[in-house]
Amino acid sequence: MCGIVGILGSHEVAPLLVESLKRLEYRGYDSAGIATVDGGRLDRRRAVGKLVNLSDLLVHEPLAGKAGIGHTRWATHGAPSVRNAHPHRAGRVAVVHNGIIENFRELRAWLSERGLAHESDTDTETVALLADHYLSDGATPVEAAEMTLARLQGAYALLFLFEGEEDLMIAARKGSPLAIGHGDGEMYVGSDAIALASLTSRVTYLEEGDWAVVTRAGATIRDGAGRLANRAARTIQIDAAQVDKAGHRHFMAKEIAEQPSRLTAALEHYLSEDGSIRLPAPGIDFAGVDRISMVACGTASYACHVAKYWFEQIAGLPVDLDVASEFRYREPPIPARTLALFVSQSGETADTLAALRYCRDKAERILSVVNVAESSIARESDLALPILAGPEIGVASTKAFSCQLLVLGLLALEAGRQRGRLDEATVRARIDDLRAVPGLVNHALSLTEDAGRIAAKLAEARDILFLGRGRMFPLALEGALKLKEISYIHAEAYASGELKHGPIALVDKTVPVIVMAPHDELFDKTVSNMQEVMARGGRVLLVTDRAGSQSAAQGVWETLVLPDVAPVWAPILYAVPAQLLAYHTAIAKGTDVDQPRNLAKSVTVE
Ligand code: F6R
Repeated sequence: MCGIVGILGSHEVAPLLVESLKRLEYRGYDSAGIATVDGGRLDRRRAVGKLVNLSDLLVHEPLAGKAGIGHTRWATHGAPSVRNAHPHRAGRVAVVHNGIIENFRELRAWLSERGLAHESDTDTETVALLADHYLSDGATPVEAAEMTLARLQGAYALLFLFEGEEDLMIAARKGSPLAIGHGDGEMYVGSDAIALASLTSRVTYLEEGDWAVVTRAGATIRDGAGRLANRAARTIQIDAAQVDKAGHRHFMAKEIAEQPSRLTAALEHYLSEDGSIRLPAPGIDFAGVDRISMVACGTASYACHVAKYWFEQIAGLPVDLDVASEFRYREPPIPARTLALFVSQSGETADTLAALRYCRDKAERILSVVNVAESSIARESDLALPILAGPEIGVASTKAFSCQLLVLGLLALEAGRQRGRLDEATVRARIDDLRAVPGLVNHALSLTEDAGRIAAKLAEARDILFLGRGRMFPLALEGALKLKEISYIHAEAYASGELKHGPIALVDKTVPVIVMAPHDELFDKTVSNMQEVMARGGRVLLVTDRAGSQSAAQGVWETLVLPDVAPVWAPILYAVPAQLLAYHTAIAKGTDVDQPRNLAKSVTVE
């Protein structure tokens, strides 16, 4: 969603704001803007489209000042346009916002009764108008911000900047994350620590309902009840280089290529020297739960879907699986002895966070698997397990998916061990198989040329089907999601056995069918379904291993051959061809790989 940043600096801030916004652009790229105060004068620049347009504008119309705020937008209220771009300004106040002000219509009506008209279609401008209204009534900037915040309903991260105030920003968090950065005589605010990575590593995270008065001397933080809140500053480890493309054409390419090293890092983190699984204290009592309820969105939900097979088959633990946007409003009963497990790369996805809060007093335990260790979901869990994928910037999730799978796979093994379904020797054997996966993923990356050649043909299709069975069904879902989000080709995934119950009507020679089929216990059944497709003229791309290609490749349109892998861990390896095919198809179509249309990462609105 939108990204926001603020700097009270000792030098010109416009270039620094733009640099920080670059790190936040993954959150939205419909428009961007900055506002500064210089010699007491508040001014702003805004541009539609990507940040580069704002940078160009600033070359022709520079903005001076050592205090400023900035924004990169994923449009919710009002189409992308300069008029609707942030910062929004009313009189002496400029505001940037991430989230949705739910009562903005009532507030708008209230403001117009007082002759205060909006210029934009956004909910955010209401915030600036309210604050300026209170200033005109004689309130100080801090009072005006406090009075404004008291009137807002909804979810927000907000930053206020005021005319005549070169040493003041007011930051507020309710529902959307916000971090305050501490510099040497400088202070910063950002949607996340990545935004501040090149400025500081000392960060204080605001809690729900907090608001902060920020000056160069520091930040005074109050909680939602107005009490002074003592929030600890912590040192975070985000190397600014980690958020560079490191010579790759796209972040997505870099993140796909990083998977062997990130998976290895996660294995090292979770495996002790003696090869046993190491979980942070107080650990998880899998013998003390009767079931797991897993909740996530998008790609993370497909990781959960794979894990459902693992927990059920390996540990005999029943798993309910939901997408968070449905779960949170369905009022599902949560039986006692339920482990609630939430998976999220960003740890900030609004629906997943709301689902977690729904389970708070109902589940036995709240566990999360996250990439951002300081995220809201991590902090509100009883135990948060990091996936250690490193910053993921490409909007399409890649390395986070494979690292989520790895951590969930280890948990399933641990659950199997604790519940007496696996003896120690079997656990060790499965771990040995898992240790081989990063190397196999590395091997699979060499399929990039084949994937590129096939993708050039896929790019001509209007519809593409993905098929998989058992643990590979979620991989088919993930393959279809990856493809549609970055190549804009319509793609659907089906459990192979479901095809003949309806979707097979779609098959003809114009519809490529991608079959994800390692040579496992279900291979022959998948091959039968594949034959049904070919009998109807369907063009099959078989993604399999050597044994699979030898026994079943006859008559298929194309084959991608992966190294052999222990079947149980095949979903981690088969993520790679799914990603490569999507990536190269997008390249062939000339779409924007890292910033596909209409999307943004870290979905902090519902
Ligand atoms: C797809 C993708 C999304 C996310 C989803 C959940 O490539 O990235 O589907 O997986 O928005 O996001 P997180 O994991 O941050 O909760």
